[in-house]
Amino acid sequence: MRARVNGIEVAYTDEGKGSPLLFVHGFPLSRGTWEKQVMAFRPDHRVIAPDLPGLGESGVRAGSVSMSQYADDLFALMQHLNVGPVTLVGHSMGGYVALAFAKAYPEMLKGLVLVGTKGGADTPEVAAARRATAEKVRTEGSSVVVNAMAPKMLSPSNTDAAMSASVRDFMTPSKPEGAIGALLGMADRPDAGAWLGWIKVRTLVITGTDDVIMPISESEALAKAIPAAELKLIPKAGHLVAFECSEAFNGILKAWLG
Ligand code: MLT
Repeated sequence: MRARVNGIEVAYTDEGKGSPLLFVHGFPLSRGTWEKQVMAFRPDHRVIAPDLPGLGESGVRAGSVSMSQYADDLFALMQHLNVGPVTLVGHSMGGYVALAFAKAYPEMLKGLVLVGTKGGADTPEVAAARRATAEKVRTEGSSVVVNAMAPKMLSPSNTDAAMSASVRDFMTPSKPEGAIGALLGMADRPDAGAWLGWIKVRTLVITGTDDVIMPISESEALAKAIPAAELKLIPKAGHLVAFECSEAFNGILKAWLG
């Protein structure tokens, strides 16, 4: 499905009925990463999963895209769909967006699920590397980020070729301008530590023990800083934990949703 929100054509999945779950993918991914959650949760929930602007099949916004701009786009999509408050599930960059959303629209949140993500800003070195990657994408195209990120999404011990192929499929629709906008937006994002303590909703922090992109310590720090948070670790799961170990992930989420 598609909707025009904040001047951008946003592609999204919207299935099922019940208490709404809004899933937000990471970088440079797309909503396909949540396919196993859409299947598992649509019998009991309204499950919404957009492609963030510039990624997947959504239209592109020119220039740097801040995490709060993506959060505004989620809010506009929710208004278009007449849905909310929601339980917001954000993976990695989607988690940065979820934290920006929690700051801007706390009344639209019923619960928060932070998956393989962190609250801190980029160090100057990481921000500089992101800007350099953005320049490279400008001259060489999106394959720069796909080739760099795809091999890091699953556990290093995972040899499932079909799964690796799916990971690349989730990344390939993203446009170069969209990847550049997200890279620059991530490089400039503020440290969410300033407002983690104000988050009032129940929060679940989930991470894979084999995540090579986001160390477990980041999830531990999030769970410590958010008052009503609990932490769950999924063994043998990499960065894309909800896709790679979907049964364990869905079981934990289902139990937490109660
Ligand atoms: C993601 O998976 O969204 C990215 O790895 C996040 C990041 O690069 O900080």
